[in-house]
Amino acid sequence: LEAPLVGEALGYRRRARVSLKVDKKSRQLQFGFRKKQSKEIVNVVDCPVLDAGLNALMSPLFELLKTFRHQENLGHIELVKGDNTLVVVLRHMKALDEQDQAALEAFAKEQQVSLYLMPQSDVLNRVVGDQAHYLETGVTIPFEPNNFIQVNQDVNRKMVEQALNWLDLTAEDRVLDLFCGLGNFSLPMAKKVRSVIGVEGVDAMVEKATHNAEINQLENARFFQANLEQDMSGQPWATEKFDKILLDPARAGASGIVDQLSDLGASRVVYVSCNPATLARDSQSLLNQGFQLRKLGMLDMFPHTSHLESMALFVKD
Ligand SMILES: C[S@@+](CC[C@H](N)C(=O)[O-])C[C@H]1O[C@@H](n2cnc3c(N)ncnc32)[C@H](O)[C@@H]1O
Repeated sequence: LEAPLVGEALGYRRRARVSLKVDKKSRQLQFGFRKKQSKEIVNVVDCPVLDAGLNALMSPLFELLKTFRHQENLGHIELVKGDNTLVVVLRHMKALDEQDQAALEAFAKEQQVSLYLMPQSDVLNRVVGDQAHYLETGVTIPFEPNNFIQVNQDVNRKMVEQALNWLDLTAEDRVLDLFCGLGNFSLPMAKKVRSVIGVEGVDAMVEKATHNAEINQLENARFFQANLEQDMSGQPWATEKFDKILLDPARAGASGIVDQLSDLGASRVVYVSCNPATLARDSQSLLNQGFQLRKLGMLDMFPHTSHLESMALFVKD
């Protein structure tokens, strides 16, 4: 068991979704977070676990939205921190009132944040400011506010470094990064190895990861779209052999792919998990395939919550 990776206890979240709703009885706009297992919204304008810059936007944003003429059309707010800009996203359920929109744009300019409007759940329009990016272990990773990014930047950085260490990367390695997202692990790895293939389910993120490799001048990283719940035979990347594999699935784990990992030839597998239950289940499969569990470490990505992130190293001699 390795020492846990920890970061700051407060100010660590670089993204949050703020719920908005007009209360039926009082007709007042509510701005905050949902009560556990409830639809009720608790007004919150000070969230100490949120990045200080994002937290400072909460109160003025609530005051602004209270002045809107059509508050019933408001859906929710997303607050996201990039290293170049803070981002505010407004999901609205009907076309925004012109005056309301003008006031919001003026607010974004005054606060020097990027503003996106989200008229539908899959449509994002940037109306003020720049696209956000974050810097990670020597690479730049641009993202859209609806793309998955790791919530805790400080612990993410330590996590990527530890994963690269545990994989014991060499300049000759061919590496496979499953559930690769925007290339959070793939791009830093590509700087150290012969080649990286990243596989991700969301098309838009595969495109973005490919673009991210280009802007970082990493010609040895390629990305493919695949649903990793399905059989991988027939996938172009699945016929190749790899020396090392990293996987970082969502809470559901990797039951669809984990049974097939030993076919890919790797001697080292690093499994990053946000759900100990699916990690335990998937570990059993790796042990059955002849891998040994060499290292296990915890990461406190979400202080003050019950969520636990972990990392396991499996080796086959
Ligand atoms: C925990 S995130 C990790 C992303 C990336 N490794 C990072 O560090 O930012 C899990 C990723 O798995 C992707 N994903 C979830 N289910 C999937 C599936 N069935 N097939 C392929 N990718 C999937 C999600 O879109 C998401 O990008």
